[in-house]
Amino acid sequence: MSELVLRETQGAVAVLTLNRPDKLNALSYALIDSLVAHLDSIEDDESVGAVILTGAGPRAFSAGADITEFSESIKQGPQAAVKAFVRRGQAMTARLEAFRKPVIAAVNGIAYGGGCEITEAVHLAVASEKAVFAKPEITIGIPPTFGGTQRLPRLAGRKRGLELLLTGDPFSAERAYEIGLVNKVVPHDELLPAAFALAQRILRHSPLAAARIITAVTRGLDVSIAEGLAIESEQFARMVPSHDTREALDAWLASRPAIYVGR
Ligand code: COA
Repeated sequence: MSELVLRETQGAVAVLTLNRPDKLNALSYALIDSLVAHLDSIEDDESVGAVILTGAGPRAFSAGADITEFSESIKQGPQAAVKAFVRRGQAMTARLEAFRKPVIAAVNGIAYGGGCEITEAVHLAVASEKAVFAKPEITIGIPPTFGGTQRLPRLAGRKRGLELLLTGDPFSAERAYEIGLVNKVVPHDELLPAAFALAQRILRHSPLAAARIITAVTRGLDVSIAEGLAIESEQFARMVPSHDTREALDAWLASRPAIYVGR
C-alpha cells in the first residue's frame, strides 16, 4: 500500500501531501494518524522551519472525512463515533492550528468537509484558481465534526459561515479569499511556488519569534482582550532572554543581517 501522507523536504520546508488520489484524498482514520505522526516528527526536526500541506493527484486537496469508514463508526453509536471519528479529526485540526511552525495549505482542488476544515485550521492558505470548497456535511445529515462549526464562523463571520454550513453549496477560491479562508488565489501552475515563496518570507525571521506569534494568536483569539494581552506579554517575556532576540536587535543596531538559531 502506498503511503497515505508523503513527506518531502526542500531546504527548511517540509511538504506533506495527502495521498489517496483515487479517493480524492479522503481523510481515513489511518491517513489522519499518519498526518499527525508526520507533524510529531517535524516538530522535533530543527532543520524544518515551515510546512506546506497539499493534496496528491489532479483533482483534490481533500474531499473530507472518509464517509465509508466513519459511517461504520456511526452504526456503533454516539460514544464509538465520537471517539473514533470526531475526537480524532478535532485533534488533527487542533494540532495543525497550534503547531509551533507555520503551516501553509496549498489548496490544489476539491476542499470539502474535512479538507475545508484543514484549510480553516492551518495558519495560512494559498489556493489554486481551480480549488473549490464546500461544507457538505449537512447533505449527509450531520454537522461538521473537525471544527467546522467553530472555526469558519470565527473566520468568515457568523452569517457567512452559517450560509455555507446550512446550504452545503460549493464555493470558489475567489469566494474563499473574500471571506478570509485563504490568503491568496493563484493560477494552478503557480500554487506550490506561491506557497514556497510565502514560507520563505517567514523563514527570513527567527523561528522562535514565529512560534511565539502563532501561540499568542492561537491562544488569544478565543479569549477576552485583557487575557489576550496577558498571553502576548507572556510570549514576549519568554522571548526576551533568547539568543534570537539579542541577535535580531544587535543586527539591527549594526545594520547587518541577523543569524538565528531558534533559541
Ligand atoms: N469519503 C470516502 N470516499 C470518497 C469521499 C469521501 N469523503 N469523497 C470521494 N470519495 C471517493 C468516491 O467514493 C469515489 O470512489 P470510487 O471511485 O471507488 O467509487 C472517488 O472518491 C471519486 O469520487 P466521485 O464521487 O466518483 O467523484 P465526483 O467527481 O463524482 O464527485 C465530489 C466529487 C467531491 C462531489 C464527491 O466525491 C463527494 O460528494 N464526496 C463527498 C464530499 C463530502 O461530503 N465530504 C464531507 C464528508 S463529512
